[in-house]
Amino acid sequence: MIPQPVSMTTSDSVYVLDASCTISASGDAEAAGALLAQRLRTACALPAPVTTTPGESIDIRIDRALPAEHYAVSVDTDGVVVRGGDAAGALHGAQTLLQLLPPDVHRSAPIGRAVWSLPCVEIVDGPRMRWRGVMLDVARHFFAPREIRRLIDLLAMHKLNVLHLHLTDDQGWRVQIDKHPALTEIGGWRPRSQVGHRSGGVSDARPHGGFYSRDDLREIVAYAELRGVLVVPEIDLPGHVGAAVAAYPELGIPGRAPAEVPGGWGIGSHVLNMRESTVAFCCDVLDELVDIFPSEVIGIGSDECPTEPWQNDPESVARAAELGLGSVAELQGWFVSRLEAHLAALGRRAMGWEEVLDGPPSRADTLVTAWRGSRAVARAAEAGLDVVSAADTSVYLDYRQSDDADEPIPIGTIVDVDTVLAFDPMPDGLSDEAAPHVLGGQANLWTEHVDDPRMVDFYAFPRVSALAEALWRGPGDPDEFAPRLDEHLERLRAAGVEFRPLEGPAPWQRRPDAQGSPKSLAQREAELNRLIDSGHTPVTME
Ligand code: ACM
Repeated sequence: MIPQPVSMTTSDSVYVLDASCTISASGDAEAAGALLAQRLRTACALPAPVTTTPGESIDIRIDRALPAEHYAVSVDTDGVVVRGGDAAGALHGAQTLLQLLPPDVHRSAPIGRAVWSLPCVEIVDGPRMRWRGVMLDVARHFFAPREIRRLIDLLAMHKLNVLHLHLTDDQGWRVQIDKHPALTEIGGWRPRSQVGHRSGGVSDARPHGGFYSRDDLREIVAYAELRGVLVVPEIDLPGHVGAAVAAYPELGIPGRAPAEVPGGWGIGSHVLNMRESTVAFCCDVLDELVDIFPSEVIGIGSDECPTEPWQNDPESVARAAELGLGSVAELQGWFVSRLEAHLAALGRRAMGWEEVLDGPPSRADTLVTAWRGSRAVARAAEAGLDVVSAADTSVYLDYRQSDDADEPIPIGTIVDVDTVLAFDPMPDGLSDEAAPHVLGGQANLWTEHVDDPRMVDFYAFPRVSALAEALWRGPGDPDEFAPRLDEHLERLRAAGVEFRPLEGPAPWQRRPDAQGSPKSLAQREAELNRLIDSGHTPVTME
C-alpha cells in the first residue's frame, strides 16, 4: 500500500464482499461511506446500500478517542469496522480498504471480476505531517474543472489533503472576479506561448486560455471537501501580475502595461503600483476569493517580485518616501502587510511564499510556503510562523525526472521518485519550540512546460505517490518502497493515470520539438544561496 500504514497485521483469511454487503455510516462518517459505496457500485457492480444504522457488514464510524486524521481498520471473515478520529480519518480508512481490494476497484466500470475479497487485517494508522499537499499552476496552462476534480480524486487516494491552486500569474488570470470582469475577459487568455526554454527561441501562434467561474470553483471546493482535501487558492501579487496589468493597466507602473497577456516564461517585469486604489482593487479580489473558498489560509503569492520597476518609476519612489520606507524594495513588505491585515479582518490568514519573510515582520499568523530549501523553513519556524516546505530541489514536479535527454523539456535539477521519497520538510537542528510550526510539505507542479492534462499525469505520477509516503510516514527507503510502488502502479493504471514509466518517458511523452535548460544540484544550490543572501529578485526571462 502507499502510504504504508503505521501498523498492519494480516492473516490468510478473507472477507468476501457480496450483494448482501451494507455500509453503515452516519454523521462525520457519511462522506467515507459514500466514497466507498460509489467505488463498490461503479467498479464492482455491488449494490452497496448505505444506512445510518450502525453495525452493518461494513461499519464506518467516528471514534473521537483517535487523533484527527487517524483511523483503524479491522477486517475479519464476518465484516469490516473502520474507525476514524474525524471525517478525514474515516475517509483515509475507506481509501485503505480500496487499496486492500484488487486494483480494478479504481476503474470506472466493472470489467467482469466475479469475486471481491478483502484480506483480514488489523490496521492502526495516522499521518506524520498535517499539511500534505500538491500545488497545481493553472495560470501558465489552464486545466478544466473536470481535470481538477480528477486530480483531487488521485490526491485523496494517496491520503494527501491539500490542493493549492496557483490561480494567477503573468501568463493568465483564471478566477472570475465579478467586480473586475476584465481580469478574466482580457487576462484569461493569451495569443501565443513560448515553447520550451527561451534559448530555443520558439513561440507558437496558438491562443491559450480559460478560467473558472465562481460556481466552478465552489463545485471544486465541495468535491474536494467530500474527499478530505482542502483547496487553498492563491493569487500572486505584487509581482507575476502581467495578466492583471494587461487587463487593468492602471494597476501597473505607468506606461509599462503589456499590450497582450505575456506568453514568455520567467520572472517578468510587471509589478503592481502601490497606489491606494491598487491596494483596494486587490482587497476586492480577496473579498471575492474568501466568498468562494472556505479555506482559512488564502494565498497572496509575493514570490519573485523584482524591485527595478519601482526603482525606475518616480511615482513609486515618491510613494516609498511618503510611506516612510527606508527603500523602494520595502514597498513589497508594506503591500503584503496590507493584504495580511485585510485577510485578518475577514477572519482568514495569509499564505505567502518565503519572500514574505524579507519584508517587515509578518503577522504572527501568516503561513509561509518555503520553496528555496530548508533555510527559510527554519527561519520561519524559529520566528514562530507556521511554514510548509516545498523545497524546489526535492519536490518541484516540473523539474526533470532523470538526466536523460529524452525527458520532455528538461529543466531544473533531477527530482526523481527517490528524491521525492527522501523529502523531509523538517530541517535538521530545529528547536523544540519551532518544530510544531513546520506543518508539512507540498510538491509544486508549475506548468510552463505542461500544456495538457496527459502531461500533468506524467509530471505528477508516480512522484506524488512518493510524496504521499514521505509526508505520511517520513522519508522512505527506496528498496523497501520499490515493490510497493510496482503494485501501486497497477492502481494508477486502473484509475487511468498516464504516469511516467519508471524506465523513462514513452515516445509520445518526449518533446524533441522543445528545448530545455537543465541545472546541476550544485549550480542550483549556489544560485539559491545567492538569491536568498541578496534578498533581491532580478528580472529573468526563462
Ligand atoms: C516559486 O517557485 N516562484 C514559488
